[in-house]
Amino acid sequence: MKAIFLLFCLGLFNPVFAEELTGLGGGLKPDDPTPMPEQRKWKDQEPLERNYVQQPPLIPHTIDNYEVNMKVNKCLTCHSWANYKQNKATKLSTTHFTNRDGIDLATVSGRRYFCMQCHVPQTDAKPLVENTFKPIQSLQPQ
Ligand code: HEC
Ligand code: HEC
Repeated sequence: MKAIFLLFCLGLFNPVFAEELTGLGGGLKPDDPTPMPEQRKWKDQEPLERNYVQQPPLIPHTIDNYEVNMKVNKCLTCHSWANYKQNKATKLSTTHFTNRDGIDLATVSGRRYFCMQCHVPQTDAKPLVENTFKPIQSLQPQ
């Protein structure tokens, strides 16, 4: 009996919890490599309808390897006013040219340059929390 009590204290014998408890690390030891999460596969789809007027539309196509940095902006090669027709893409709306002082610029405003700050690829992921949001009816296309 004493021996079992000692093993219990040392954590070597624990008849009740041995199987059930799993730490936040999912039972991994500190040096175990973390498994890669499953990669989502994006594919081009029909654009989803917007839920409300001011919503940044979701991106209906893949954006693998589309670079946006100080020197290049891949998105603008199709979405700029100069290029949209040729690429059958939606052109940027004029709000993208307004700077934070409300002044309209000739080029995309710095605050709308990094497109993926606001636009994300669309997916039919399950909502994390339930919500009952409804858009204002008077501003919905009929
Ligand atoms: C090779 C050309 C091309 C590139 C590059 C491109 N797009 Fe597009 N994009 C399109 C086309 C074409 C559509 C229209 C698709 C449709 O209507 O079916 C579109 C649609 C969209 C829409 C939906 C617009 C709407 O009215 O619903 C968004 C948002 C968008 N793209 C964002 C981006 C972003 C952000 C990037 C850069 C990461 C990007 N696109 C790069 C061609 C492109
Ligand atoms: C700060 C957030 C923000 C950033 C950054 C941004 N957008 Fe948008 N975008 C919006 C919002 C909000 C809308 C919808 C309302 C509007 O037109 O302003 C929109 C609308 C659009 C539309 C649809 C226009 C239409 O006429 O319906 C396209 C295309 C688009 N954005 C592309 C881009 C691209 C490409 C970039 C990068 C160069 C970009 N956006 C950067 C917020 C953003």
